[in-house]
Amino acid sequence: MLSEIRDLNTVGFAVTEMLTRLIYHSENHLGPFDGKMMDDLNSIMEVAVRKNEAANITGALIFDNIWFMQVLEGEREALSATLRRIMADERHDNVTIMDVRPIHERMFANWWMGIAAVQGASEKLLTRHGVGPRFNPSKMTGEQALLLTVDLAQQGLSRKLASAAV
Ligand SMILES: Cc1cc2nc3c(=O)[nH]c(=O)nc-3n(C[C@H](O)[C@H](O)[C@H](O)COP(=O)(O)O)c2cc1C
Repeated sequence: MLSEIRDLNTVGFAVTEMLTRLIYHSENHLGPFDGKMMDDLNSIMEVAVRKNEAANITGALIFDNIWFMQVLEGEREALSATLRRIMADERHDNVTIMDVRPIHERMFANWWMGIAAVQGASEKLLTRHGVGPRFNPSKMTGEQALLLTVDLAQQGLSRKLASAAV
């Protein structure tokens, strides 16, 4: 019986890699939407990109002055270790898991960690995703969260954030 299970495990690629996607939201404790918040976000991103690259984790972080919402993709043990560090971080609070599931491929393969401000996004975009007019991830499904994050990341808001902060 055990050997049968072992045989089955050797054929499925999902079993060998255990690629997982996790989405959470949390309360942003960085204070008002100003230059200091941008500095704090840049230092979070600097560490996140370095550590995620080392752990082969990809994803994106979106935020406004009230919320963070983050998508993390990677091998599940590495993902869990990263999540434990993120949950202990006092720059946010009330980390709430929105979705976690095994995946076959990454949606954010090009980003160790992308970042996008929801503030800059139009009400139209949020409404198009059925989550408008105000950004409130506690009212969103994991699916809505994923599609909105993909859309924001593709719009390249992260580049604007980076240049605004220089
Ligand atoms: C909203 C938010 C998102 C973060 N995202 C990541 C991330 O994707 N990867 C990561 O390694 N650290 C991330 N961090 C930073 C971690 O919380 C932590 O500070 C960092 O991993 C360094 O941990 P260490 O000092 O225990 O080594 C994030 C922090 C916050 C507040």
